[in-house]
Amino acid sequence: MRDLEQQILTGEEEKKLQYEYMDKVRQIVKAKEEEKGRRLTCCVKTFGCQMNARDSEKLVGILTDVGYVETEDEHADFVIYNTCTVRENANNKVYGRLGYLSTYKKKNPDMMIALCGCMMQEEGVVAKLQKSYRFVNLIFGTHNIYKFAELLYRSLTSDGMIVDIWKDTDKIVEELPVKRKFSFKSGVNIMFGCNNFCSYCIVPYVRGRERSREPQDIIREIKGLVADGVCEIMLLGQNVNSYGKNLEHPVTFAELLRMVNEIDGLKRIRFMTSHPKDLSDDLILAMKECDKVCKHMHLPLQSGSSRLLKLMNRHYDKEQYLTIVKKLREAIPDIALTTDIIVGFPGETEEDFMETLDVVKQVEYDSAFTFIYSKRTGTPAAAMENQCDPKEVKEHFDMLLKEVQAISTKKAMALTGTVQEVLAEEENEQDKRLITGRLSNNSIVHFPGDCSMIGNLYQVRLTECKGFYYLGEIVS
Ligand code: 5AD
Ligand code: SF4
Repeated sequence: MRDLEQQILTGEEEKKLQYEYMDKVRQIVKAKEEEKGRRLTCCVKTFGCQMNARDSEKLVGILTDVGYVETEDEHADFVIYNTCTVRENANNKVYGRLGYLSTYKKKNPDMMIALCGCMMQEEGVVAKLQKSYRFVNLIFGTHNIYKFAELLYRSLTSDGMIVDIWKDTDKIVEELPVKRKFSFKSGVNIMFGCNNFCSYCIVPYVRGRERSREPQDIIREIKGLVADGVCEIMLLGQNVNSYGKNLEHPVTFAELLRMVNEIDGLKRIRFMTSHPKDLSDDLILAMKECDKVCKHMHLPLQSGSSRLLKLMNRHYDKEQYLTIVKKLREAIPDIALTTDIIVGFPGETEEDFMETLDVVKQVEYDSAFTFIYSKRTGTPAAAMENQCDPKEVKEHFDMLLKEVQAISTKKAMALTGTVQEVLAEEENEQDKRLITGRLSNNSIVHFPGDCSMIGNLYQVRLTECKGFYYLGEIVS
């Protein structure tokens, strides 16, 4: 039935249907409010990456549209966990927190609990929830999030647990409500899914095949955001460098960047995540030529060992990675580089690890996310027999972290005294006389100012480096 519906409805019809469900749910919420004599609250908790954060904004968009009031408090009337499953400990965290939610629900039996996101797409998870977490009202996945209004309606009008998980979808539904977390910046999905199947990674199994949005839909969304006060956008995809390859009329990511750069009123463009194997010379040129594109590239390394990179199915080796870095720095000398690194991939030897350390020393990343390899059932790496000794992995991890931190500090210190373009982002939480802003390279600076400055660009002298952030003063 669901597959049939998926095939028959166009994106436009689907959107209309979801708006009809929102009307129906609004009536239900209104009736409940009258019954309780108060507004109903909702709380959406996000685990994981920027893609999930953006999905959560869509969930909050619908919930607030139908009448819920957003709160950070998990004692709310409707609580959703938007889950991540990239590493095992992300799953454990969700099970742990569900325990707390069940106690809240005992006090408020009308409370609705929903789970969605990547973890729900993983084999065995739903069965475990159905067996041991019966108090959960609604479970859905990553492919049918656009059906949230309909699922909300179904769960509010029936008893028991509603489960709706799809294996994949080719549909992209545009223009459903979104409630942004920040007024001045926003993520914008340019593609969904991943086709790369890095051997350690569960994402392709839970996010499905790569699908790009049409450039005109992306541009229209960004223009709408700019009209609504947004001055910085982050283009989101698991591998933005392969954007547009499968569109009916293929468009490259470099071409998309150039189009987005033309949008009047937009001040900054960021993007995430780049895969080294698809990073073209034209993209480097586009970054150099487009004045709004921030001088920052997040370029996951994963490992510096060519041997391991092959086993990881990354399609580049150490030398190729270093060549890309060289080209980036030649074209954009002050570009900030950040990365992701995994320690303890099956079979990693002392020599492999030293290769990683060598790349870290050569590249001198501005910052790096370091992860201990987590075995994800169903991925090729999980079936490899030579899993590493946890004690050794921890030693390597600590060694890597120390190196990464020392380099980050050195790089940050080097900017002290320089004048940088800064976007004023928010009032400083501790000291209201300060404004917190961000450099093009993504570093944070606190400087004297007031709320009226939020969303504007300033030239700021970085007077002092405090390790992870700067203190500064406006020059102009
Ligand atoms: N174990 C550890 N880290 C992982 N990542 C992806 N899968 C795993 C795993 N199984 C890391 C990669 C990726 C980042 C988002 O998460 O470094 O770039
Ligand atoms: Fe996972 Fe690799 Fe896809 Fe990134 S590119 S989401 S690491 S499979």
